[in-house]
Amino acid sequence: MSPWKKAIQKIDPEIEIDIWPAIKNKERIQFAICWNQPDHLLDNFPNLKAVSSLGAGVDHLLSDESLPESVDICRVYSHSLVQQMNEYITGAVISIRRHFARYIRQKDQQQWQVHGRGQVAGSRIGVMGLGAIGGPVAGRLAQLGYSVSGWSRTSRDLNGINCFAGRGELGNFLRNTQTLICLLPLTSETEGILNLDLFKQMQPPGWIINAARGNHLVDEDLIYALDSGLLEGAWLDVFSEEPLPGNHPFWNRPNIIITPHIASLTQPEEVAEQIVENYKRTLSGMGPRKVVDRTKGY
Ligand SMILES: NC(=O)c1ccc[n+]([C@@H]2O[C@H](COP(=O)([O-])OP(=O)(O)OC[C@H]3O[C@@H](n4cnc5c(N)ncnc54)[C@H](OP(=O)(O)O)[C@@H]3O)[C@@H](O)[C@H]2O)c1
Repeated sequence: MSPWKKAIQKIDPEIEIDIWPAIKNKERIQFAICWNQPDHLLDNFPNLKAVSSLGAGVDHLLSDESLPESVDICRVYSHSLVQQMNEYITGAVISIRRHFARYIRQKDQQQWQVHGRGQVAGSRIGVMGLGAIGGPVAGRLAQLGYSVSGWSRTSRDLNGINCFAGRGELGNFLRNTQTLICLLPLTSETEGILNLDLFKQMQPPGWIINAARGNHLVDEDLIYALDSGLLEGAWLDVFSEEPLPGNHPFWNRPNIIITPHIASLTQPEEVAEQIVENYKRTLSGMGPRKVVDRTKGY
């Protein structure tokens, strides 16, 4: 049995669940849960009222133009998603600062070479996106003693974080940033935001960490920025094409760390209760919680 079906029916065994493509009666489907569904799949269900993402990201649903406007799009959230991302980003920041990737490579060549590091408080970290995940990640880094700035669409006031908002303040945010962490949603405004123009505004020698979506990054601009010394390295969990194709230039770069989209994974049992609640709210006409604002794109 699918782990999702199992987790949902453990909460309410009465809920009938069909797993695509074995859907017996398309007219009976009123609520769907999806991840990277095929295009045009969702316009096959005339009575669909709401669709939930299986994770924090909803770009795979918003980009499906066949999904009728009347269908609510919602997402799930769990403490574990934030905790996993905190662990991933903290691990990346510490590995970058303490040169762990270099030392691992050096060991293969029996090379004993020490690399310098500055004071923790002198490490200028910028977090793009201060939402459900980015906000707590920025807070955790500040608690560890790093000097943290954050950037969001609307103004935020977060304890210990130097907050900037909107395109007008992006330049000031970047001037304060040496290690840039992207935790933005993928929208028409944020697609391709990690580009050469942005890298040029950062404080050198820069690093970027992208754990949001692959299409935030312009791949060829990253290669150029690394080759020209604008950036020192990149730590990437997400890619415009996943799995990253075997012939992609990122694979051969020692200063690009690659992880296979594992920063923070949704576990069915951690979010099944939210899905059941949203399913029942949808059927009763109340509408689900955590509905995505289609005009904002997140
Ligand atoms: N790699 C993984 O395993 C993994 C796991 C989970 C999530 N993710 C990704 O992590 C990202 C963040 O998720 P989340 O749940 O934290 O998102 P969220 O709660 O929707 O927060 C989005 C944040 O980005 C800001 N933002 C949106 N558009 C902006 C713009 N045009 N300019 C400046 N700031 C903008 C928002 O500003 P306001 O505060 O003003 O609204 C908000 O602070 C998503 O891309 C998600 O897909 C990746």
